[in-house]
Amino acid sequence: MDEPEKCRTRNQALFLVLMAPVAPGNLASRDAIRRTWGNETLVQGKKVQTLFMLGLPGGPNAQELQEKVNQESRAHHDLLQSDLMDSYHNLTIKTMLILEWLVSRCPEASYAMKIDSDVFLNVQNLVSMLVNPDTPKQNYMTGLVWWHSPVLRKPNKKFFLPYEVMAESEYPPYPLGFCYIMSMDLPKKIMRVSPQIKPIYIEDAYPGMCLKRLGISLTNPPSKSLFDVNPIYSYGRCKLSTVVAVTTTKVSQMLRYWQDYTRPGPPC
Ligand SMILES: *[C@@H]1O[C@H](CO)[C@@H](O)[C@H](O)[C@H]1NC(C)=O
Ligand SMILES: *[C@@H]1O[C@H](CO)[C@@H](O)[C@H](O)[C@H]1NC(C)=O
Repeated sequence: MDEPEKCRTRNQALFLVLMAPVAPGNLASRDAIRRTWGNETLVQGKKVQTLFMLGLPGGPNAQELQEKVNQESRAHHDLLQSDLMDSYHNLTIKTMLILEWLVSRCPEASYAMKIDSDVFLNVQNLVSMLVNPDTPKQNYMTGLVWWHSPVLRKPNKKFFLPYEVMAESEYPPYPLGFCYIMSMDLPKKIMRVSPQIKPIYIEDAYPGMCLKRLGISLTNPPSKSLFDVNPIYSYGRCKLSTVVAVTTTKVSQMLRYWQDYTRPGPPC
């Protein structure tokens, strides 16, 4: 399932593409995004576009679910679907499919963001960060960067990797997968080196491994408080007006955050 024309905008090139990997059955998240940050198409005079990347549904209701996905695609024209099984251990491949699609369909855009479907995104603040003259236009990847993340060796850990797969004790620096931003030269460069780098299932560490091979270092955001992957408290309107991205616990919380953030009046 493709949307080959999505990035071919008239008059003005697309500035930012928001790419959200999401499971085929997760219609609720897609609808929430369409009603909130995914509906922001012109921000500070810059064109923005949101697309969803799906794999194939599995399980006994796969065919029925696929039919629903086809209908949804005809209604919204914002779904991309590839013929890999949509599963946790295939997420790295899904990320690479996103990069591949960007290379072939969006070469003219300036920046892309990979964003999980449970994240509240303040598109205004994101665009402000990207149009800042200090922000690099090339070789740029940012988000919440883990500079020294240990490779976990205990088999019972969620992100366990044995020595045979990864001998180093630390991953190369990488941006946490919940959301990261890259300049549009990077998808092509990452695709170029990735055949030489064995994929691991940890989907956010893998792009970091490719960047290391390219000799490109990650960039810290202007402030770490712009990104929050694990909020302890729920966010109020004032704080929502200062962030770029924060993880939410439920679809209803994302909708509530958006309502709160977009309410008229001073945020603080
Ligand atoms: C998107 O925004 C437009 C204009 O602000 C509004 O008319 C439309 O209903 C919104 N779409 C959704 C799905 O919320
Ligand atoms: C990944 O997708 C491929 C292709 O659909 C499939 O054969 C494989 O079982 C999937 N792997 C996992 C771990 O789900």
